[in-house]
Parts: sequence; structure tokens; C-alpha cells
Amino acid sequence: MTSTRRAFLGGMLGAGAAVLSASPRAWGRVAPALPVSAPPRDFTFTAAERPTRLLDAPARDSALWTYTDAPFPVIRVRQNERIRAQLINHLPEHTSMHWHGIRLPSNMDGVPYLSQPPVLPGQSFTYDFAPPDTGTFFFHPHCNEPGQLGRGMLGALIVEGDETAPYDDELVLTLKDWRLAPDGAWLPFDTSEGAGRAGTFGTVRGVNGARPFTGTVPAKADVRLRLLNLDSSRVIEVGVEGAEAWVIAIDGHGVKPFALHTWRMGPAMRLDIAVRTPEAGGQLQLLDYFSATPWPMATLTAEGKNRRMGDFKAHPLKGTATPQADLKNAQRLPFTFSAASGGVTAAEVLGGLSPDDPFAKVLLDSLCIGGQTLWAINKASWPDDGHRTLPPPLAELRAGESYIFTLTNVTPHPHPIHLHGHVFEVLSASRQKLPRFHADTVLLLPKETIEIAFVAELGNWMFHCHVVEHLHHGMMGWVRVT
Ligand code: C2O
Ligand code: CU
Repeated sequence: MTSTRRAFLGGMLGAGAAVLSASPRAWGRVAPALPVSAPPRDFTFTAAERPTRLLDAPARDSALWTYTDAPFPVIRVRQNERIRAQLINHLPEHTSMHWHGIRLPSNMDGVPYLSQPPVLPGQSFTYDFAPPDTGTFFFHPHCNEPGQLGRGMLGALIVEGDETAPYDDELVLTLKDWRLAPDGAWLPFDTSEGAGRAGTFGTVRGVNGARPFTGTVPAKADVRLRLLNLDSSRVIEVGVEGAEAWVIAIDGHGVKPFALHTWRMGPAMRLDIAVRTPEAGGQLQLLDYFSATPWPMATLTAEGKNRRMGDFKAHPLKGTATPQADLKNAQRLPFTFSAASGGVTAAEVLGGLSPDDPFAKVLLDSLCIGGQTLWAINKASWPDDGHRTLPPPLAELRAGESYIFTLTNVTPHPHPIHLHGHVFEVLSASRQKLPRFHADTVLLLPKETIEIAFVAELGNWMFHCHVVEHLHHGMMGWVRVT
């Protein structure tokens, strides 16, 4: 193991952590269990405030909220390995764990009220599922997203088993900025200027912590970089200098390797990159070109004996395990992402839902929503009167059927659009030259239309922009699959 592998924040959590009784409670519709393999891997996550040094003295420690003692835990499991993850909530407000990009039963999806009761302070909840797809994923709360993600409630889930030939080393790079005042205190995570535009940006950029990342890699080696954009607002454009670089996976799903020039990543998007490192002493840099001057996300110095000779060819990963949509018979549904047209009335909120519907009878809570409705999907905004009433679903789908969603952005801002519980194929994009690939989040540029296709899976699934202030201020909905 090289020092870079050891150095990144957040080690692998050991298996065998204590798991208490709390068996997952069924809430909402339960999808059939996916194939599992015994024995399960147990993880414990204690959501709590943990003061952590992000800025140099004389600034004080910053009041991070994290899942483990180390920020940004990275957990690793094998494909189809059963995970039992106990979340214990020591935060002053309710929380949950959403497993972003993982196809799982809907009642394990971690969305308070839609898929489970919120995990209140002092309570716990155990997530129990087996990830069917390999790749680079992550988890985060699905409540008060600006405040909880803003304070650091994030971790990576690596599902192993996709390499057809082993890489010599691997690095997990988690990009997230921090909204800090010079004294280390938090600045507001949600601002009206930001929420109504491209989102509120951090004041301190960070990779695996507070600063641009520096590390070492073996010389002349084939190294896999797993890059996660877990920022709340920032869109980046990734490129590599000092080494040949190939894209090998998008949102965790293996693609036929293609040379990386630059690649845009909105919040929640991931990219696996293969590089051949330089000779000892040489450096390679991962840069963000989406800023006035390219920002070095990571600077890696090669060390030791050369590991490889000859030309570099990225070792391809296995393709996705996701079912292929039947494009010929797929039903097409349009979705328009826009600014909100005005207030949402209670009748609109209730829509066709009967007051007896379990989804209409949700509890009073003011933490999951923004105080102001700014954004909409198909003219409907996630209501800002709390979760007492869920809005009607944006669409009703049939499990096992294929769908093509046509996503159109009529705003001047990019929106990374995410559908829970599914992996979709990106079929076309009107303003970007993209290969066909599988993903769970796709960046919809201003005035762009993108087509995605997937096979619907049973359950209730959130569908939203992943700029957290956009989802918090209305650009969020759900689809019901029966
Ligand atoms: Cu990372 Cu609702 O999503
Ligand atoms: Cu958005």
C-alpha cells in the first residue's frame, strides 16, 4: 500500500462493528430483496458533531457533522455482498442515509417519509441491502441537505469486483468545498442569492479535507483514480496533466475506456480515471478547468521503482450489471426543469392523493424543506409547507417496463439530475458530445434536452436536481413504480 492510499481521509471501516437490534421497519412499499450472499458485513455510523481542523490557527476547529470519527468514511464491499449499516443519530435534528446510485429495495433508500420514518435524535435505523452494481458510490442524508451535507455528512461506498485486470494502486478523491468564515465558523449554507441561481459556493475548496490533495503514487504504474464530486453546488471540469488518462467508469459503471480530455461533473457525479504515472520524481495533476485558472484538485508525485514497461492501455472494467431498457417499446415521458411559477396551493399539494394514503399522512417536520419555492419539475415544486403532505408523484410507472425520460432545462443554470434506485442509460444530449453510458445522475446544461432510458423498479423514488439548494427549494419530486 502506498502512502497515498494510506493518507486519504477516512480509512476503510472494519467489519464486525456491533449492530444492535433495530430491524429495518417496513415503510412504504417494499420491493423484493435482491440476491444476497452470507455473511453480512456490518457497519456502524454514528452521525454526530465532531470538531475538526479545516483552517490553520488562529482559526478554531470547525463543527463538522460526520458519520464516523474520520470525515468522509470509505467503505468497501463486494458486488452483491449484504450490507447491514446501522445509523445512530447523535445530531440535534433528524437524519437518514441515502445510498446514492445503489439499486436497492425502496424501503432501504433513506428518504424520510417517502421510504422510512426519519431517524430522530437518539434513534437508530439499520439499512440492509446488497448492492447489485460494482463501482464508486456514496451516501448522504436526505434531510436538511444544505446544512447536513454542508457540514460534511458524506461517505463513499466502493463496490468491488469490476476489474478485469488489477490496477497497481487506487486513490479515492472526494471533492467538497466548505462554507467557512476565516475563524473556522460556518457561513450560511443556504442563501437567497445562491439558491435562486447556481447554488451557494464554499469559501474554501477541498479534496479529502480542506486543501488541494497532494500524495504519492508508484512510478510508471497503472493507477485508478475514483473521483467523487460531493460538493453541494460546484460543477467541475476534470482533466489530467502529466500523465495519459482514460475514463474507465461513469457513476461507477464501466465504460469502454476513452481518452480523458475534460469531463464535466456536477454535484453527486463520479468518474473513474485510469492513469499511467510518470517516472519517479515526476508529477501528475488532476485539474478543474471550470474556473478562471485551472485549480489543482490533486497533485501526485511518482516514487519508487517503475512498475510497468511498454505502452499504456487502460484495463477496461466489466460493463454495468443494470438491465437494458427496451428502447423500441419504451414509453416516453417529458420532464421540464424550470423556475417555480408561483406558490403551490394545498390542493395542488394533495393532488389526487386520498387523505388515507400513507404518503399523505406524513408527520409534521420543517427540516426537510426550504422556506421558499424557487424551482419546479413539470411546473410542480416540492411543497414548502413541510412533509405533512407529500406532493403527488410526478409519474406513475409500471415495474419491469422500459421508459425514456426526456429532460429539458429551461433555466440558465446547469442541473445534475438524479433518479433514485435506478441506473439509466444516457441516450442523447442536445448540447454535449457524450458517448452512450450508464449513470444515476446526469448534468443537464442550460437550455439542454437529454434522453435517459431505464427499466422501472418497484418502489417510490425521488427524482431531483442534486444542487442541494435547488432540491431544497422545489426542484424535487418522486415517481411511483407499482
Ligand atoms: Cu444523492 Cu436524492 O440524492
Ligand atoms: Cu439544479
